[in-house]
Amino acid sequence: MTASRTQVGIIGGGPSGLLLSQLLDLAGVDNVVLERRSRDYVLARVRAGVIEQGVVKILRAAGVGARLDREGLLHHGVEIAAGEARYHIDFAAQGASLTVYGQTELTKDLVEAREARGGTLVYEAGDVAIEGVDGKQPRLHYRKDGVSHVLGCDFVAGCDGFHGVSRKSIPANVLKMHERVYPFGWLGVLADVPPVLPELIYASHERGFALCSMRSATRSRCYVQCALDDDAEQWSDARFWDELRARLPAEVARQVRTAPAIEKSIAPLRSFVAEPLRHGQLLLAGDAAHIVPPTGAKGLNLAVRDVDQLAAALIAHYRETSDALLDEYSATALRRIWKAERFSAWLTSVLHVFPGRSSFDRRMQLAELDQLASSAAARAAFVESYTGAALLS
Ligand code: APR
Ligand code: PHB
Repeated sequence: MTASRTQVGIIGGGPSGLLLSQLLDLAGVDNVVLERRSRDYVLARVRAGVIEQGVVKILRAAGVGARLDREGLLHHGVEIAAGEARYHIDFAAQGASLTVYGQTELTKDLVEAREARGGTLVYEAGDVAIEGVDGKQPRLHYRKDGVSHVLGCDFVAGCDGFHGVSRKSIPANVLKMHERVYPFGWLGVLADVPPVLPELIYASHERGFALCSMRSATRSRCYVQCALDDDAEQWSDARFWDELRARLPAEVARQVRTAPAIEKSIAPLRSFVAEPLRHGQLLLAGDAAHIVPPTGAKGLNLAVRDVDQLAAALIAHYRETSDALLDEYSATALRRIWKAERFSAWLTSVLHVFPGRSSFDRRMQLAELDQLASSAAARAAFVESYTGAALLS
């Protein structure tokens, strides 16, 4: 058994854990990242790819903005379709924009930045367990290559995603969980075809929701709503592209080019918030603390904003010996998180086919979209949430 010490022990080496590690290191706060999976696995995960401008600024300040600025695609609007109807929502009037840049690429930039600064990233750290989270000196236990390790820390950052151990270490009588599970999933395909349109298009259709997004001028990421018990193996490439076309307005469907899928997977949809985000010396951030359905692409943006706030609080603890920011972390972050939860759940409810829904429910969805099309105030509110201007912490 080996024993070591650090200031902040970070559980999870996804975007949240890596960014926290980077921000703390830049401020001279010592930290160690314990990640259950291998480096290759972490680098290969395909997730969403829409980044708010405020989040781009945080990433630049963390020293991981260079490739994002070079290769990211700047978007000034988005399309929403319902059957054959198409609505264009312009962000420019509000001086807003979004950057389309895959989370896979951002993860790569973060891993490279941590390695360049000599950060301690422990991959394949098994059986991570938190001891003494209520006391002043918590300890992280883990196993690596058959050897047991103990890492003493001042703080533990729970950045280990929805299925991690951190949240589960908070006593059941302290932790409150709020959840909505949706009765469908998204089947996503990554393929080397040009984007269907220059902007993203979210489509509400009788056959189910569809989304055409992109990663570059030559690579697309597209989704169709599917059953929860569906199996990605049952979806041939041809079936996927046919279904996508069937859910888009005819003139957009004609623009769809097809190619073999590079990646094809099904993700369930969930809205989830845990509270509080702090218990003793344990602080939760990112997917460990909350989940949004992917409609609206808020997951990564929320995670980055959590971590930015958490890093500032920890840095203030060490530099200024002030715990005011740490004390207010949970309440401040939760206010912002609930706003994003509201928007993501609303957009999900407006665009998807819910089993057993009535013709009244469908007319409500269409009226919501018509409201966006006809009311400048409704569009402004949408843009404020979609681009993140309303979600500043
Ligand atoms: N011990 C160590 N590491 C763990 C453990 C554990 N018990 N459980 C999970 N992990 C690791 C996972 O392997 C993963 O690499 O924690 C990491 C969590 O990463 P993510 O799930 O990506 O969560 P987060 O870093 O908060 O990223 C924010 O934004 O768009 C959303 O869901 C999307 O991943 C994205 C998220
Ligand atoms: C994506 O590009 O993968 C994406 C874009 C927008 C979303 C969800 C996913 O709302």
